[in-house]
Amino acid sequence: MQDQDFRNKDARYYMPVFSRDMMITRGQGSRVWDADGKEYIDCVAGIAVCSTGHCHPDVVSAICEQSRQLIHCSNLYYVPHQADLAEKLSHITGLARVFLCNSGTEATEGALKLARRVTGRRSFIAFSHGFHGRTMGGLAVTHKPGIREPFEPLEPKCAFVEYGDSESLRKAINHDTAGVVVEPVQGEAGVIIPPPGFLQEVREICDENGALMIVDEVQSGMGRSGKWLAIQRSSVQPDIVTLAKGIASGFPMGALVAREGIEFRKGDHGSTFGGGPLACAAALATIKVIETVLPTIPQKAERFQEAFTAYDPRVFGLLIGITVGEKCAAIQQQCRKNGVLINCAADGNIRLVPPLVITNEEIDRAVQVIDEALGAQGLHR
Ligand SMILES: Cc1ncc(COP(=O)(O)O)c(C=O)c1O
Repeated sequence: MQDQDFRNKDARYYMPVFSRDMMITRGQGSRVWDADGKEYIDCVAGIAVCSTGHCHPDVVSAICEQSRQLIHCSNLYYVPHQADLAEKLSHITGLARVFLCNSGTEATEGALKLARRVTGRRSFIAFSHGFHGRTMGGLAVTHKPGIREPFEPLEPKCAFVEYGDSESLRKAINHDTAGVVVEPVQGEAGVIIPPPGFLQEVREICDENGALMIVDEVQSGMGRSGKWLAIQRSSVQPDIVTLAKGIASGFPMGALVAREGIEFRKGDHGSTFGGGPLACAAALATIKVIETVLPTIPQKAERFQEAFTAYDPRVFGLLIGITVGEKCAAIQQQCRKNGVLINCAADGNIRLVPPLVITNEEIDRAVQVIDEALGAQGLHR
């Protein structure tokens, strides 16, 4: 289809919620190609989704094989691969029980319901600049006023406190707080790393007040930080962890994983598609691939860190942020022109979330292009 045709059709028939102006038609590893056949190194990776790169052969095989056996059967029956995946997720998170859904926001919804169910309390606390999803519950605990306020009143009730400020959390928490929802590193905000000790303090404040600590690892989890979970870079044990994005290499899936004793009762929760055979097969294959690349993540992160030192980057494994202010869009455009896809997160921050399988050569090429674009905007410090 000609470029202008799909633009026109999209403009005519698709709700105008997204800003976009190119189509990616093919991907392999850390490379993608647009509708004109132009190649890019993909430092967006579906926004931290394509963890194993595009179309990893093991993931493709798992999906193809499973699709020849059974595509869907309902959770009325035991689902092929589901218990194997639950076991795997329990092992890699160090938690006990799993519920599978289809997206990050659904994982948030499940976590909020579960916290209410277990504590018998109603309200939540979340943090400034935090992002937890776009459905009503996910939005209720998402900070950004511009995307939340048009849809108020929202449930559950949520108070927001400054990310990194444990004293404010201590003041805000009360006997009705079911849970505190926190990202161990804030992705949508532009890769904001909390001050040392903050997550431990959140843990302690939750314990002192009988609230659950819900750690959103939708973006930071599944190996991106160099550990299976970003929270595992501290010694903090969460009560509930949410996962999605990188869990199944782009096949839609979300999960919540909770510690022993925190679980839904029969009939409390459910999902038609959640934990279906194809998604579980894709996730199991994805985890196998991540197991092999996980030890390489710190070295790759270091390579980005060294290359970008002049720009004060925030590097948390392969979750990398650089503050560039209003020049973000121009830098993104220049990178794209020169064959590298990057993304602008909130508040003028470049965010890089490449596939975990990105090679050193690809990192070097991407860094060169990004460095040139930053330099062209006079950002070299
Ligand atoms: C930390 C975090 N939580 C939740 C979500 C929502 O995930 P989804 O878009 O799959 O609903 C996102 C998406 O960007 C996220 O980054």
